[in-house]
Amino acid sequence: MTSTLVTGIAELVTNDPAREHGLLGTLDDAALVLDGDRVAWIGPAADAPDADDRADVGGRAVMPGFVDSHSHLVFAGDRSAEFAARMTGTPYDGGGIAVTREATQAVSDDQLRALVAARVQEMAALGTTTVEIKSGYGLTVDEEVRALRIAGEFTSETTYLGAHVVPPEHRGDRAAYVELCGGAMLEACAPHARWIDVFCEPHSEFAFREDEARQILTAGKEHGLLLRLHGNQLGHGPGAQLAVELGAASVDHCTYLSDADIDALAGSDTVATLLPGVEFSTRSPYPDARRLIDAGVAVALASDCNPGTCYSSSMPLMVALAVREMGMTPEEAVHAATAGSARSLRRDDVGAIRVGTSADHLALLNAPTYRHLAYRPGMPIATKFHTEGSDLTH
Ligand code: NIG
Ligand code: FE
Repeated sequence: MTSTLVTGIAELVTNDPAREHGLLGTLDDAALVLDGDRVAWIGPAADAPDADDRADVGGRAVMPGFVDSHSHLVFAGDRSAEFAARMTGTPYDGGGIAVTREATQAVSDDQLRALVAARVQEMAALGTTTVEIKSGYGLTVDEEVRALRIAGEFTSETTYLGAHVVPPEHRGDRAAYVELCGGAMLEACAPHARWIDVFCEPHSEFAFREDEARQILTAGKEHGLLLRLHGNQLGHGPGAQLAVELGAASVDHCTYLSDADIDALAGSDTVATLLPGVEFSTRSPYPDARRLIDAGVAVALASDCNPGTCYSSSMPLMVALAVREMGMTPEEAVHAATAGSARSLRRDDVGAIRVGTSADHLALLNAPTYRHLAYRPGMPIATKFHTEGSDLTH
């Protein structure tokens, strides 16, 4: 195997508490040795060992690749008119999910696969190296299985979200759809998924109530799936406390939380995943990340990339919004978008840089420090780390 010494790292973000500075475990003037596709050595450039090849990143920062722990990439169609209407005051209610479902059903497997591939490629181009992908625009047994099969071609973090909304043909009999989600649809989907998720939202007539969500998630757990939950997005609701009660790894959105919700989260292993692109794209109030962090809640950041509430997969944008709008420091935001989201996926092989980390899980910044992610909003300064060619400075 060929080893490569990577020099010129102005700042290395490790997320390893045993390393040098702060929450992010940063090292200045650092070097890395890659042995094949693994990190074999980390340390000050002055102490770097020799290697077969050398690559100089020219004073840039290297950090763990972003972990986007919440996305809905398996869809076709366009809802930009719905977005435009929202910007002039029409509130989001989840009704557009059925529109995307129609458009998704209309395309072939190859067309859908190509759409997902292009979206994953866009993510990598902005530094995301791990992605969770949900189903949820199928809403029949066959279409949910199809979505999960295609998602599984791109990630091992696949999430069964048959309980995204009650589809139009079941609106007269919600109980039958809930039964299907926790029964035959779950049976068919469980082999293709690691996770189960439910859109638990009393403020949407299309989404699921607490009792319905509990029934579906409990069935998912019995089938060996791990739990995540969409909760507290459109108003105060039962999602966060239900997630804690059921031992979910994450409750996502958390836009509206009570003191009791925060207490419950703080005393649990459930991560609060914040999705500030959603508040941006639905003109909603941002969650109070400061309050969560100060209470001791584990916080993650993710994009929620989807055609309805946030058609952006830019993790640098999420970091910038978290800092500008949610009271997080740049350090906290970068930690939440890497180590925090890795924790929400119960992964310890991503979201940090240690000896043994795969080179596929590193990101390179066209900037001297992670702080530029918030300081230079909208600029494409992050990308997946690569060693193709000997010179990384181009
Ligand atoms: O996470 N809230 C539910 N699901 C998505 C939106 C899906 C859509 O509108 O297409 C979300 O915001
Ligand atoms: Fe979502």
